[in-house]
Amino acid sequence: MKDAKTATRQLAREYAAQGDPDGWFEEFYARADGDIQKVYWADLEPNPLLVDWLEENPAPPGRRAITIGCGLGDDAELLAQYGYQVVAFDISASAIAMCRQRYPASRVDYLVADLFDYPEQWRRSFDLVYECNTVQILSGENRAKSIVAIAELAAPLGEVLVSCRSRDGDVNPQAFPIELDRDEIDGFQRAGLLETHFLAYDDHQDPPVPHFFAVYQRPPAA
Ligand SMILES: C[S@@+](CC[C@H](N)C(=O)[O-])C[C@H]1O[C@@H](n2cnc3c(N)ncnc32)[C@H](O)[C@@H]1O
Repeated sequence: MKDAKTATRQLAREYAAQGDPDGWFEEFYARADGDIQKVYWADLEPNPLLVDWLEENPAPPGRRAITIGCGLGDDAELLAQYGYQVVAFDISASAIAMCRQRYPASRVDYLVADLFDYPEQWRRSFDLVYECNTVQILSGENRAKSIVAIAELAAPLGEVLVSCRSRDGDVNPQAFPIELDRDEIDGFQRAGLLETHFLAYDDHQDPPVPHFFAVYQRPPAA
């Protein structure tokens, strides 16, 4: 795992040196060559906080959900199990191929798409938007841009769930990914959403890793 992370950081550095700091994701998944164990950041199970939220917030079947940077698809599959009609997208074609291979009978619509250039008809059209660990892996101004792009997917009264690593001090130059601080995640509010739930917690890793789990809602249409 440590070696895999070091290799990934090196890959990201190489792309940054070529002026494309967030261009390395397809190469990362292509190198895994279909082996899900090589995708070291994937837990290969749904996020337990998403499970809890879905249990506590049952929705009528057929609500529309979208999963940002869906990786290997565990959270998208969970949303489908809870009755959502799910679009799950990732910029990496190899990641999407792995999702389709893992879940050949899935009801999830797995798509290759770019958060910064998604179809216009997606805008403000989803009841639930789920973001886990995408913003934190991006660099520079793409981080704030990604928050706006994610927020824009929520329909009036739609909700955005955000799960990420967190920090409460300056950026550690060695950090990879770079955790979000409170001001950065507040970008979802600056993008026009209302914060309805905010949890700062330490996960169960050894040593524990600080995280945020936050829920936002778009106000009703005027
Ligand atoms: C750290 S991984 C997290 C994956 C998954 N959400 C999870 O929690 O396991 C970040 C994901 O975002 C995807 N990604 C990065 N930039 C993207 C973009 N511009 N549009 C869509 N997906 C992107 C990557 O390919 C990668 O699968």
